[in-house]
Amino acid sequence: MPKINPFKPNHTVPPGMFAGRIEEIRELEKGLWQTKNGFPNNYLITGERGIGKSSLIQLIKYIAQGDIENSYGKKLDFVTVQLVISDRTDLISSVKLIDRILKRELGKIEKVKSFLDSTWEFVQRIKIMDSGIDSAKQNSELDIIIDDFAYSLAQTCKRIIGKQDEAKCKDGIIFFIDEADNACENLHLGYLVKAVTELLVQHECNNIMFVVAGLPVVIEKLSNSHPSSIRIFNHLIIKELSPEDRQRVVESGIKEGNKINEEITTITSKGKNLISTLSEGYPHFIQQFAYSAFDFNSDGEINEDDVTGGAFGKGGALDEIGTRYYHSAYNEQIKSDDYREVLSIMADSMNSWIKKSDIVQKFSGADHTVTDALKALTSRKIILKNPSKRGEYRLQQRGFALWIKLFGARKK
Ligand SMILES: Nc1ncnc2c1ncn2[C@@H]1O[C@H](COP(=O)(O)OP(=O)(O)O)[C@@H](O)[C@H]1O
Ligand SMILES: [Mg+2]
Repeated sequence: MPKINPFKPNHTVPPGMFAGRIEEIRELEKGLWQTKNGFPNNYLITGERGIGKSSLIQLIKYIAQGDIENSYGKKLDFVTVQLVISDRTDLISSVKLIDRILKRELGKIEKVKSFLDSTWEFVQRIKIMDSGIDSAKQNSELDIIIDDFAYSLAQTCKRIIGKQDEAKCKDGIIFFIDEADNACENLHLGYLVKAVTELLVQHECNNIMFVVAGLPVVIEKLSNSHPSSIRIFNHLIIKELSPEDRQRVVESGIKEGNKINEEITTITSKGKNLISTLSEGYPHFIQQFAYSAFDFNSDGEINEDDVTGGAFGKGGALDEIGTRYYHSAYNEQIKSDDYREVLSIMADSMNSWIKKSDIVQKFSGADHTVTDALKALTSRKIILKNPSKRGEYRLQQRGFALWIKLFGARKK
């Protein structure tokens, strides 16, 4: 029987294997507590791809719903609504989705069933907007939908909060809006959250919290949609895990594995350290390196060779990470090996600014190729041009830089 691999490179991490984020969890738990007590807070969570935004959201969702206790040993009882935004999600489709999710979650309570049907009746009347009508008319129709939505939401929340009986037993409603960087213009995300939070206050509904997560560009998207929408959020920026937390991730994975497998697996401290160092604290790198090392190993004790073998081999961790996160930026959007060489040179400085003249010096081909490469890479948003210093560029993401560096190391 093959061993079951406990590491989760392609899923949000289960609570038992979740490491770190103490500050962020404390802050979000504070928000839940505030919201339960009628002083709602909203949060914006940003960070690079694979840094752990969705996993953090998942954990907070479990805490909010009372699936697990919060840090103070208390179980909360919020209704949670999770939306994952795609580039096709628009305002109307998300209102319809929220209506469905709320009915699914609350329909279980017999007493509120008919209340929900009548309160959310407006959703049945929403028509797909005629693309022919002018934008002023469209906007006013959207405003009506938002107004109906906020009103229904406020009524619903007020109907279910309390500790009186089976139908008034909830702490409030928490919205988790993940991958908000995908938001298209027609979602009007910034405008929507800004308007809805204001309307909720007008309707004296104070037990609803919004948590929005996405890549850093989400900030731009929100403020393009409504310039002051950013101000309704407390902003949490998710960073790399500390070396202690990285080790904890590996240890708890090994422990989980030993619960489900007959054959015991151990890991040497050098093996653990190597995963920690190679990953530079990126949770998705940790999970993937650990997963691949676990797979590579055959004698039950994971050591440095297993980590290296699993990481750099064909179909190993680096290939997996590349396919999952960076393949398109590296291979599809960049057709030229010269451009990739420029990226490798830049990756040596991770995502710090680097002078064009330094790149030219290290580049094996002609100077003008570097000029072309920098122009093309900037326009594809793979690298950034320093707005305050001429001739300086950097890679957008540390994770991408790390991957390019390690990938290059394998080729050598
Ligand atoms: N706090 C954490 N502890 C352990 N593993 C984590 C943690 N956060 C994320 N991971 C792992 O890292 C990978 C990426 O996490 P994810 O939450 O999907 O990131 P994001 O949503 O920012 O792209 C997943 O494999 C997940 O299991
Ligand atoms: Mg995510």
